[in-house]
Amino acid sequence: MSLPNGEDIPLDTIISVATTAARQAGAVLTECSRTGFRIEHKQIINLVTDADHRAEQRIIDVIHDAFPTHPVLAEERGLTEEPPSRYKWVIDPLDGTTNFAHGLPAYCVSIGVECDGRGIIGVVYDPTREELFTAQIGHGAYLNGVPISVSTTDQLDRALLVTGFAYNIRETPNNNLNYFARFALKVQGLRRTGTAALDLCYVAAGRFDGFWEVALNPWDMAAGVVILREAGGRVTDFAGNTHSIYGQELVASNGLIHRAMLDLLQEDVTPS
Ligand code: IPD
Ligand code: CA
Ligand code: CA
Repeated sequence: MSLPNGEDIPLDTIISVATTAARQAGAVLTECSRTGFRIEHKQIINLVTDADHRAEQRIIDVIHDAFPTHPVLAEERGLTEEPPSRYKWVIDPLDGTTNFAHGLPAYCVSIGVECDGRGIIGVVYDPTREELFTAQIGHGAYLNGVPISVSTTDQLDRALLVTGFAYNIRETPNNNLNYFARFALKVQGLRRTGTAALDLCYVAAGRFDGFWEVALNPWDMAAGVVILREAGGRVTDFAGNTHSIYGQELVASNGLIHRAMLDLLQEDVTPS
């Protein structure tokens, strides 16, 4: 199945490999959740389990069986050493590790693919609900094969938003608590699920109307932003500029409440 570097690979071929990898990694997570796993602390509140490592290795094996020369940026292992390629896979083997470690069934596998620096494929698999979110650039977004689209909510008063907090919450003043307080007083409801990749998919599926975070990593966003865009959603940085998975900020919405979200994020609340 591998093709020489530089050659266009059909999107269907890539998404099929990504889906296989996501389902196999999901099976690893399910098995570990039943049989047990070891927990290590990367930092005081930042955990990693052997389920993260095992799922990650499974994904990389599936990718490299199909495309031996494709580099993979993986959360736990970093960038694999492959020759330069037009393609790059960006993966989070377990998004929602804290939930997983506590036995809370809110986590997923996230696999994004870039070609020439642009996100072209997103696959997010939630093994606890057997929900598979998929998207190919230009072909729409799907949940278990059924097309999905963003909500039509057009006012913050009616909006259900979601956000999250990075592991450095105790170390930096840019810890999102200011924005959390601001949004809490303006929206219908505000949630924190602990899995950014699923948060993006839930905006794509109309379950949430908007999502923001101040400090995400590429593997948290790579798949979800493709799925969200293909579902008709909008994603930018806090200034409203083009979003990059290599920047940390993210504002994602159904498009209709995007301006109102940006206005709130940009509001100057410094006391005069
Ligand atoms: C975390 C989750 C969480 C987000 C954190 C991420 P992890 O990823 O996506 O929702 O708020 O910023 O680091 O560590 O569970 O893969
Ligand atoms: Ca993550
Ligand atoms: Ca992770």
